[in-house]
Amino acid sequence: MNLADTEVVLSILTQAGFSQTNNLRTADVVFVNTCAVRENAEQRIFGRLGDFKRYKKENPGMLIGVLGCMAERLRKDLMESESHVDLVVGPDEYRRLPELIEGALTGQRGIAVRLSRVENYDDILPLRTDGISAWISVMRGCDKFCTFCVVPFTRGRERSRSLDSIVREVEHLAARGFKEVTLLGQNVNSYNDGTNDFADLMAAAAQVDTTMRIRFTTSHPQDMSDKLVRTIAENENICKYIHLPVQSGSDRILELMNRSYTSEHYLSLVNKIRASIPEVSLSTDIIAGFPTETDDDHRQTLDMIRHVGYDGAFTFKYSPRENTKSWHMGDDVTEEVKLERLNQIIDLQREISLKKNHETVGQVVEILVEGESTKSPNDFCGRTDTNKMVVFPRGSAEIGQYLTVRIERANSATLFGTILGASRRLADDSRLAANA
Ligand code: 5AD
Ligand code: SF4
Repeated sequence: MNLADTEVVLSILTQAGFSQTNNLRTADVVFVNTCAVRENAEQRIFGRLGDFKRYKKENPGMLIGVLGCMAERLRKDLMESESHVDLVVGPDEYRRLPELIEGALTGQRGIAVRLSRVENYDDILPLRTDGISAWISVMRGCDKFCTFCVVPFTRGRERSRSLDSIVREVEHLAARGFKEVTLLGQNVNSYNDGTNDFADLMAAAAQVDTTMRIRFTTSHPQDMSDKLVRTIAENENICKYIHLPVQSGSDRILELMNRSYTSEHYLSLVNKIRASIPEVSLSTDIIAGFPTETDDDHRQTLDMIRHVGYDGAFTFKYSPRENTKSWHMGDDVTEEVKLERLNQIIDLQREISLKKNHETVGQVVEILVEGESTKSPNDFCGRTDTNKMVVFPRGSAEIGQYLTVRIERANSATLFGTILGASRRLADDSRLAANA
């Protein structure tokens, strides 16, 4: 989401006559776009701001700005008199950046952190570098108020962009040669522009160019409608991968978290999804050590992971966030116990991922070529539509091509294979003819 927001900021600043530089030491203005969801994200930002302070000593005219959720949350601390931060701008105030920079150049420290009920940057075409994959932010904010989460406070109320403008953006990306679009929102499946829901949006985005993959993240189980599941099943180019955060397997903890479902509801949703989309891959988010979590609650989370058999999981130690409801529940699970539970979750998930990945050995899969593998320039990598990373000897493969690959071996994170040829499923015929 922050990467997508940064592209909006780049667009606003470019329109105002600024240009981007890769040289941090000589830049006139440096922004850091921040996340406040867990404390360690914030600590990293403070570290980065410390580096900027040194650059500013060498280049005293440099302006330093903090954007995003931390700006919203920590505006007072960031603007203390001895701070070297010149601008603090929250996620709904990016249109004012040129004006705030002008002010800061004349010595006025700028602060703009009001949240809006309507701002969605619908008319701003994000500034993107060419590539094969792009994000489109389709809704902002969140109204779910999970008790551990700072997002409703830092990003404000839910609001959706219009379907038409999003479809125009997908068309624009298709014309530029992008092959994959991820529709983004904190709570993306509660998208509603007044006329269309998220399933309508997904169907419309998928129809723009059927050789383009459509992905989406992040969904809340409560808004995973039958219509949306059907839409994913029916459109070949909507990827069969759903990130569906469960957070905990204990009904008592889910209630304390205000997640609005029970483990039974969640499991029946998973069954429904699998019945409609048998090949679907599922991932989740899990928090270890929520206030009052007992060994038994934790065991239920492990049971949930086993029951669903996720393809992957993002796992976090509970991090108390000021102003949230759970902040007032204390933080009674010790760091040691949180870590132990987190490690058990990670180990179990790794075991499951490994087993699932081994099952793909011998299969022929379609991938979209993304680029060089990080480990070797002789290998390329690409993803299956179920979001599994595949590494293979590059041969004559080109970035942005759809290929069929036979999987030869696997570990818990990656599949390894060899190219069989161009894929006929999503690739357009003209490209295949040109490659033949
Ligand atoms: N502590 C730990 N994890 C958190 N998340 C959100 N807030 C917190 C918190 N206070 C996790 C949730 C969410 C993901 C984006 O971050 O699992 O789904
Ligand atoms: Fe935070 Fe996601 Fe819950 Fe919204 S749905 S409050 S973003 S965890």
